[in-house]
Amino acid sequence: METWLPLLNTALIVISGIALLVGYFFIRQGNITNHRRAMLTATTFAALFLIVYVARFFLIDTKIFTGEGWARAVYYVILISHMILATVIAPLVLITLYRALTRQYPKHRRIARVTLPLWLYVVVTGWLVYLMLYQLSFTAT
Ligand code: HEM
Repeated sequence: METWLPLLNTALIVISGIALLVGYFFIRQGNITNHRRAMLTATTFAALFLIVYVARFFLIDTKIFTGEGWARAVYYVILISHMILATVIAPLVLITLYRALTRQYPKHRRIARVTLPLWLYVVVTGWLVYLMLYQLSFTAT
């Protein structure tokens, strides 16, 4: 199976996470213009991630984790929490963006404080799933 596709996918999600942190930094500085740019970049990369992810899911067999013991337990806790929160985060991001772009800033800020940490959690766990599945080798203990 192509190994560059999971790498591309992980790169897209990690870039969205970096843009998210940069965007947070900007709003803490009071720089709304750059906050807006960074957050729209983060959303674009997250959307690209989603497109590649869905295409992969339908076109290519997904890889099954073969580790055992504690590694298997950790992997599934990370994977399942990642999948649940990735589903929750999609409407949250849209609402957060909508409130910002319609200038409902206090409401935007309120929901954004939930969206941002959840989004970062999805990014970090997505990267961990990739590492555990493709880069680290776990042998049966
Ligand atoms: C989904 C993408 C976005 C996320 C995750 C996000 C995240 C955040 C967060 C966490 C805060 C609160 C910062 C704090 O605690 O002080 C905030 C505030 C703010 N954001 Fe965003 N943001 C996004 C998109 C945008 C966009 C597109 C704009 C367009 C102008 C924008 C404008 C603002 C403004 C003006 C504030 C300050 C609100 C206030 O202090 O009342 N944001 N954002």
